[in-house]
Amino acid sequence: MYKSLYILFVLCVFSVRMKELPEYIKKARCHIDENIEQCMKVNGNKILRQLISEGVPEFNLPSMNPLKVDFIQMINTPQLQVNVSKMEVHGLTEMTIIEAKAKPAEGVFKASLINKNITVVGKYTANGKILTFPVVGEGDFSIYLKNGLYNETVICRMVKRNGDDYLERMNIFLTANFERVVSDFRNLFNGNKQLGDQFNMLLNENWEYLISEYGPSVVQFLKNLMGNLFDSFTSNVPFKNLFLFD
Ligand SMILES: *[C@@H]1O[C@H](CO)[C@@H](O)[C@H](O)[C@H]1NC(C)=O
Ligand SMILES: *[C@@H]1O[C@H](CO)[C@@H](O)[C@H](O)[C@H]1NC(C)=O
Ligand SMILES: *[C@@H]1O[C@H](CO)[C@@H](O)[C@H](O)[C@H]1NC(C)=O
Repeated sequence: MYKSLYILFVLCVFSVRMKELPEYIKKARCHIDENIEQCMKVNGNKILRQLISEGVPEFNLPSMNPLKVDFIQMINTPQLQVNVSKMEVHGLTEMTIIEAKAKPAEGVFKASLINKNITVVGKYTANGKILTFPVVGEGDFSIYLKNGLYNETVICRMVKRNGDDYLERMNIFLTANFERVVSDFRNLFNGNKQLGDQFNMLLNENWEYLISEYGPSVVQFLKNLMGNLFDSFTSNVPFKNLFLFD
């Protein structure tokens, strides 16, 4: 799903001419000077909530309050497959930028964000083994990511289109750290409640191990998400209109 969405997105981008930033984002642009990092942090925090909740329809960026995903193969390893459908990610409007770093001329942008409660809900189907225990089931699930710290780095190069310079994303790096992760998978083991409860307890006692094991799949998902968010600006709006130069 995510891939096809992305391809669709890329097609849209190339069929489209240069676009204007929405007015409230235009007002939050920063000068490229020694204060740029402070400005990106302060102004970024001013617009983040509206950006996440409204999206930018002109850029084909949907609302992310909640973020909705129809289907994703969330974990796909030889030991364990977990598919997720009707997924909703709640709490993204509460993202706060605690630090921004920017070297626009070199195409390097970094942001550290915190979020005290991201809650993911949806339907899962699982088949495989976790911590040597066989796990099968399908049903509702929720995952609560407590006090996340998300550090993102985007590396870009400058490309020319129709005579204008655009930033183009070459790479994205993301680390995510949590104080705690609490998950609840319902209807495991054909709805055997006792086994299901025990298993959820096991998951929650071993959340750090699970993050080390399965975190990368989730981080990949978040990377796509943040990358697309970034691209929706840089591919629609020329560099000269993303920052202030006078
Ligand atoms: C986290 O957010 C979800 C909904 O977004 C809410 O249901 C839940 O109670 C919140 N949890 C905490 C501990 O604040
Ligand atoms: C997950 O989805 C894929 C692709 O649709 C399918 O081949 C696989 O059997 C599914 N796995 C589970 C555990 O539902
Ligand atoms: C994330 O960024 C914060 C703030 O810049 C920093 O203190 C922390 O060490 C970084 N963590 C990782 C894992 O990079």
